[in-house]
Amino acid sequence: MGSPVNKRILLGVTGGIAAYKSADLVRRLRDAGAEVRVIMTSSATEFITPLTLQAVSGHPVYRHLLDTDAEAGMGHIELARWADAVLVAPASANFLARLAQGRADDLLSTVCLATEAPVAVAPAMNQQMWNNPATQSNLAAIKKNAVRIFGPAEGSQACGEVGPGRMLEPVELVTLTSELFATGELDGLTVLVTAGPTWEAIDPVRGLTNRSSGKMGYAVAEAAAEAGAKVILISGPTALADPARVRTIRVTSAQEMHDAVHRHAAEANIFIGVAAVADYRPARTAERKIKKTEARLTLELERTPDILASVAALRPAPFTVGFAAETENLEQHARAKLENKKLDLVAANRVGADLGFASDDNSLLLVEREGVTELPVQPKTKLARALIRHVAARYRAKNSAPVHALRRP
Ligand code: C5P
Repeated sequence: MGSPVNKRILLGVTGGIAAYKSADLVRRLRDAGAEVRVIMTSSATEFITPLTLQAVSGHPVYRHLLDTDAEAGMGHIELARWADAVLVAPASANFLARLAQGRADDLLSTVCLATEAPVAVAPAMNQQMWNNPATQSNLAAIKKNAVRIFGPAEGSQACGEVGPGRMLEPVELVTLTSELFATGELDGLTVLVTAGPTWEAIDPVRGLTNRSSGKMGYAVAEAAAEAGAKVILISGPTALADPARVRTIRVTSAQEMHDAVHRHAAEANIFIGVAAVADYRPARTAERKIKKTEARLTLELERTPDILASVAALRPAPFTVGFAAETENLEQHARAKLENKKLDLVAANRVGADLGFASDDNSLLLVEREGVTELPVQPKTKLARALIRHVAARYRAKNSAPVHALRRP
């Protein structure tokens, strides 16, 4: 079962009477947890106003390909990259023809060509137009290009005729759109993820921590759930909401994170340590707030347990993935971590001025004994999905059994 929670859905609205249902569709997609932006073709604006769709989506509607203001903001390539899925509803006969031809002479057709995200269309037209061999051959062509066709339904039509060509109801389109995000790559498996920073108390009000936002770890947990896994997320203190369909356990210190991880490690097939765990903690925590009486104060620090290495040392160990945030010599440092901690994979990312901890975008270098794979800069949600795809394939290869039979003893 896929879920639209936190998914970015680009809704294309073309010219047809069913466009009046698009406002309800936007509202239902948002109620289901998706972020929605809308592109309208010029004929769609004859049926429903951009203002209506702006109001229900909460964003200005995109309409023009060659608009300097729009291109200076989120232009057609950014929109194509932004989307996790493109849904065109209603899709007119004319739009299907243009999609089949690979036209790029308006914003919607151009974005459909430029996106790597799945594209789905919900056709809506008169039944004669639907049954016309030209429309049917256009459909066959776009199906061949992996475009998903939702519907149409049969029934009475706005033109008074009865037959196939009615757009599916918004509630059905929300369900079908959700299914676009279900991959099944981790069906039947349990994935344990750590995320966020840890907090090492100095006294009751002060502590040692770091700038980790938890975004990457949460995105990894969500991507694993989307791929069908049962997911347990052990999170340090973050400002993020618990991800949907993930069991989230909140902890504070490295020791608490270590203990929570080991309570669940035996059931995990895959462990992914994304947390920025403090390496040192105060050797003693003062019971009362430390007063500023001395000119100098020395804090004695001791090492925290290495959670990742301790999981990799279990027998049997889950497939173990570590993260490495580095400012330089990415591959070299990652490879050292792979060997020292006896991991299956290290996902290394460069941290710098505008990449890394607090940012929404990142890139990863996946370092394994077999070689190196580069995942280019993209939103952390997409990056997490690409990482999970890679990990699922490696896990299957290592255990070389059909996916449904993969269970740890
Ligand atoms: O050794 P280093 O801290 O650079 O390694 C980073 C990786 O190790 C991350 O995956 C992090 O979650 C994990 N780690 C851990 N426990 C620690 C320190 C790091 O699990 N005490």
